[in-house]
Amino acid sequence: MLESPIQSKVHDEARQGEALLLEKEPGKGRRKLYIESYGCQMNFSDSEIVASILLDNGFETTGYYNDADVVFINTCSIRENAEQRVRTRLGDFKRAKRENPGMIVGVLGCMAERLKSKFLEEEKLVDLVVGPDAYRDLPNLIAKVEDGNRSVNVLLSREETYADISPVRLNSNGITAFISIMRGCDNMCSFCVVPFTRGRERSRDPESIVKEAKDLFEAGYREVTLLGQNVDSYKHKGENDEEIVNFAKLLALVADVSPLLRVRFSTSHPKDITDEVLHTIAKYPNICNYIHLPIQSGNSRVLELMNRTYSREWYIDRINAIRRIIPDCGISTDIISGFCTETEEDHQDTLSIMDLVQYDYAYMFTYSERPGTLAAKRYEDDVPEEVKKRRLTEIVHKQRGHSLFRLENQIGKVHRVLIEGYSKKSDQDYCGRNDQNAMVVFPKGSYKIGDYVNVIGETCTSATLIGRIID
Ligand code: 5AD
Ligand code: SF4
Repeated sequence: MLESPIQSKVHDEARQGEALLLEKEPGKGRRKLYIESYGCQMNFSDSEIVASILLDNGFETTGYYNDADVVFINTCSIRENAEQRVRTRLGDFKRAKRENPGMIVGVLGCMAERLKSKFLEEEKLVDLVVGPDAYRDLPNLIAKVEDGNRSVNVLLSREETYADISPVRLNSNGITAFISIMRGCDNMCSFCVVPFTRGRERSRDPESIVKEAKDLFEAGYREVTLLGQNVDSYKHKGENDEEIVNFAKLLALVADVSPLLRVRFSTSHPKDITDEVLHTIAKYPNICNYIHLPIQSGNSRVLELMNRTYSREWYIDRINAIRRIIPDCGISTDIISGFCTETEEDHQDTLSIMDLVQYDYAYMFTYSERPGTLAAKRYEDDVPEEVKKRRLTEIVHKQRGHSLFRLENQIGKVHRVLIEGYSKKSDQDYCGRNDQNAMVVFPKGSYKIGDYVNVIGETCTSATLIGRIID
């Protein structure tokens, strides 16, 4: 899950279509749109759909909100602190609006869905509240605001997948891109607000997904990440009505676009990930050997309260299947500390499963009760905040050791790396990821961004492998 805000800017030379669109009448008559995104990759991907809809309706994007006619904040509700961050940022936009009263400020995404019209009452300077399934209505809603009304559309849909909309790649490196393959979630994990904010699960048609991957490849992109809340339950009828395309088949279809196009995906669900998916990953060299498989807790009783619908044993069986079928697979996870009723022994079970798997990477959180979820209705949030935090510290500490162990294991080995850009620290070094998703930094040599290179690992920190290119 990405947590940092990014600002929207179209600076993607590789995608000629969009560059042309922006250059058609640069500045002339086009209104300026600024979008800031928070939360998961799906939200960032949605902002690219929003930008596409508005570029088709007379807008151009800007990287400066003070400059903008329309300012959108695409919000996240997953934990309370994500919502707090958005509220702080809305304060900045409100001040800008006082200076420039014509500016339209809109709240998009999960917070819009969760708080609905309450937002307009609470946050007086917000003009527009739009949920994740209503983005096609944005031009309409903006027109209503311009007529002096405030507008809300938070209707959730059972069909909307934005399949026909070609996203405008925002803040793109021109090499890696996200493709949204499904929307919503039917899982009802008891801690999670997503089924309420993003609605029912629906899969996008495979033809439009493959077309998007092909278009990206032809525009110079070399890696796509297929996005869904639970990619393993992807299911769609193929061109021939009898044939059902499941996630394994979809992976193969996208991998067939070109051996030079890397395919990644997120997020997998332990209850749904099949051996067929694992065999497909093993079969195709361009499907990356990396799986994000959230565990949440290592204790079966807690997992049941979380409504995760698998036990500790089931999860371990899936890890064993991954290790058997894809021996060098990178594995990452999500962990929540201090869920309702979690005891010290339950917490020890989480630490022990971490020792067993030795994850390459983990996203780790304290439990944050979300209004309206099953857990908020049924269970008391009874683990004190300082206990949640102490347990989280133990989890983070353990993970740091495992990340270091995994990277140290990569030293002396040769890695195929797709060059994504310059290293943060030096313009003499490139960075990119290996098959297992580890970030690798190395001197540039005579290569360019978008090339594949073989890099031998020489040293590492707990987050990065450092090496040099070998021919
Ligand atoms: N509190 C803490 N973490 C949560 N997540 C989802 N909901 C909550 C919550 N209420 C975490 C889960 C999920 C990740 C995206 O966010 O670990 O996998
Ligand atoms: Fe939330 Fe569970 Fe769905 Fe993930 S699978 S989005 S945690 S309900």
